[in-house]
Amino acid sequence: MANLRPKVLLTRQLPEVAIEKLEANVDLEIFPYDRSMTPEELKGKVVDKDGLLCLLTDTISPALMDAAPKLKVVSNYAVGYNNIDIGAATERKIVVTNTPDVLTETTADLTFGLMLMTGRRVLEAGEVLRNGNWKGWSPMQFMGTDIHGSTLGIIGMGRIGKALTKRARGFDMKVIYWNRTRLTVREEKKLGLRYVKFNEVLHQADFLSLNVAYNEETHHLIDEAALQKMKQSAFFINTSRGGTTDEEALLEALENNKIAGAGLDVFENEPNINPRFLELKNTVILPHIASASVATREKMAMVAVDNLLAVLAGKKPAYRVE
Ligand code: DGY
Repeated sequence: MANLRPKVLLTRQLPEVAIEKLEANVDLEIFPYDRSMTPEELKGKVVDKDGLLCLLTDTISPALMDAAPKLKVVSNYAVGYNNIDIGAATERKIVVTNTPDVLTETTADLTFGLMLMTGRRVLEAGEVLRNGNWKGWSPMQFMGTDIHGSTLGIIGMGRIGKALTKRARGFDMKVIYWNRTRLTVREEKKLGLRYVKFNEVLHQADFLSLNVAYNEETHHLIDEAALQKMKQSAFFINTSRGGTTDEEALLEALENNKIAGAGLDVFENEPNINPRFLELKNTVILPHIASASVATREKMAMVAVDNLLAVLAGKKPAYRVE
């Protein structure tokens, strides 16, 4: 009898629960190596597939979609979907899905953690101890910036911006924000937020957190002009996407102490990062781990699987990107 189960390609191993659910429902092919598939490998394997479960590191281009005439769904294992050409998918009637909500709190935790690490010079101080260079307690050693009482400026007030606001309120921070669309006054009141103009957020923030989706509009949103508007004592935090920031301008500002420091989880050309970042004492750099908790990565996997299975079953997925 012909195999009627839909054919699905999964581009990387995921938590076991997700694999089990996929295997119970589809004819599954998993790319067996712990690295990104090359565009050629991806193209070669997607040709006969009905569904694709991919990562933010996989580029889903029009050419790739054209190589897969049966493809009905691209389920992205991420909330961000700048790796997928959405317009091209829509034209080809391919449904694209993502995994928001489940990673919001975990991402906000790490974003807040970067504020603490940069403001209180956590890594820098820890390194001195680890390298055997600590000579004992000293009144002037590793003095940092208080988080409590400082002003947090958030650019982008979506789910993660709101979750970050809750944490900031717990630390008695003043929170100002800018978003393309202003929240309702009721919601601002509830969250304890003040809306100000984009340039005002830059001027006033002691900690500036970028929490926007990456697209043409937000490409290099933080550029030289924006960085120049920041206080010299301010810290820049980015857990969104590297492309939202002009890295040359950021490096220049950090190297010349035009701002106090940065906490970065994302970079423009991941995984290749500009080696100048490695030299900066005032900067904490992380390998894109904001959503990386065991519980959250499992939830993301289940959401990605459920989205994919829903489309293949002709149902509405919980999270469709349009
Ligand atoms: C996303 O989901 O877009 C994050 O960058 C990784 O979890």
